Amino acid sequence: MKESFASIILAAGQGTRMRSATPKVLHPVAGRPMILHALDAVAPLKPAAQVVVVAPKMEAVKACIHAAFPRCQFAVQREQKGTGHAVSCAMAAVPKQCRTVLVSYGDTPLLTRETLMQLLADKAKHKAAIALLGMRPEDPTGYGRLVMSREPWVDRIVECKDAAAAEKKIPWVWGGVMAFDASFLREALADLKPSPKTGEYYLTALIDVARREGLAVRMTPMGEREAMGVNDRAQLAKAEAIMQDRLRARAMAQGATLTDPTSVYFSYDTVLGRDVTVQPHVVFGPGVTVDDDVQIRAFSHLEGAHIASGAVVGPFARIRPGSVIGAGAHVGNFVEIKKSELGAGAKANHLSYIGDADVGAGANIGAGTITCNYDGVKKSKTVIDSGAFIGSNTALVAPVKVGARAVVGAGSVITDNVPPDTLAIARVKQMHKSRKKKAKRK
Ligand code: UD1
Ligand code: CA
Repeated sequence: MKESFASIILAAGQGTRMRSATPKVLHPVAGRPMILHALDAVAPLKPAAQVVVVAPKMEAVKACIHAAFPRCQFAVQREQKGTGHAVSCAMAAVPKQCRTVLVSYGDTPLLTRETLMQLLADKAKHKAAIALLGMRPEDPTGYGRLVMSREPWVDRIVECKDAAAAEKKIPWVWGGVMAFDASFLREALADLKPSPKTGEYYLTALIDVARREGLAVRMTPMGEREAMGVNDRAQLAKAEAIMQDRLRARAMAQGATLTDPTSVYFSYDTVLGRDVTVQPHVVFGPGVTVDDDVQIRAFSHLEGAHIASGAVVGPFARIRPGSVIGAGAHVGNFVEIKKSELGAGAKANHLSYIGDADVGAGANIGAGTITCNYDGVKKSKTVIDSGAFIGSNTALVAPVKVGARAVVGAGSVITDNVPPDTLAIARVKQMHKSRKKKAKRK
């Protein structure tokens, strides 16, 4: 039987290097706050308890986590006295039966569950008091250096700001994740001394406690890209780039063609079916699912929408939240769809705004059609039944309904329901007046 473990994720730091009014861990990577990526990596391992350490007044962080992980508990670190101190704040929430405590950081959004599993497995196999993730980044600035006289056994970690010149040259750094023996951790936290240089209680100083007691500390190596920490906006951009590469690779592995992968931006949850083609410069916001055989043409922006099989979207289309584009439907250039459903085979090919609408199968929305869904106070619905034909430059003033197979003449302003199988024309009739008798202009 797998032994139970508790997970503690630290997120109480103010993230001053971000220079932001938003707490660091709420900054998104691929449309998802960093802290949720950190929780996503741990959740599949089914920890017996999940604790996140936050600072006072981090209500927004708590609310964000609670919405996605309702069983997550919080520990409040009243003063930010260091990462070791933060862990001690969380220990009361760690159940007695947990023999291992996994500590990770809320600012490490690229970690995967596989790596965490590897770390826990290594710890169990080698009977280490502490197992930690190590990496060799191209630029180790800012990371704690791993001092190892006998690789992969760790003697100590020297924080970058405390490191001597020779120690700064060590290529191995700590990736921000440690797995502890729970009983060791409880005792060692009580013994933890502050850094003489900064006065902070470092989590990394627990290695000194273990070594003094003759206990083993082991490093599990991992890829650099996975454990990068995000402390500033430049690192946030780098993490985003790495995550985007991952998501592009995933989409292609699942059978989508990306004509120019580096120009397509995904959200963490974008789902593409097989034989979907995505042309250059397409952005997927959160909540998009695309069925098989869909074409998303260049320069389109989609968010919170479902695109059914065989549909063609774009170029230059904007699909906003709450939209469903039916099988084989077409949404063309400069068309914005918001909270609307387009039935199978419906077409809106040019220059339109379709909002709060229900468009039936096979309906044709002419160029320049606008659903006037907002009167300045409330939103109203437009219903266009199947097979209806809306002439170009029509304004549909909601609430309004156009019946099945009805035809609306170009340039109409439709304010009343149009019965099925009816032609509606609502525009000033064209007049012709003779110019013969007109007084000559001077
Ligand atoms: C830390 C490590 C460093 C490691 C790097 C990996 C320490 C002392 N240093 O450095 O060895 O290589 O991460 O990314 O651990 N936090 C609290 N309370 C505090 C202080 C921090 O909860 O009092 C949280 C922060 O919100 C953050 C995490 O701990 O999520 C790490 O803190 P941060 O200041 O980012 O540490 P680094 O300088 O990156
Ligand atoms: Ca960090």
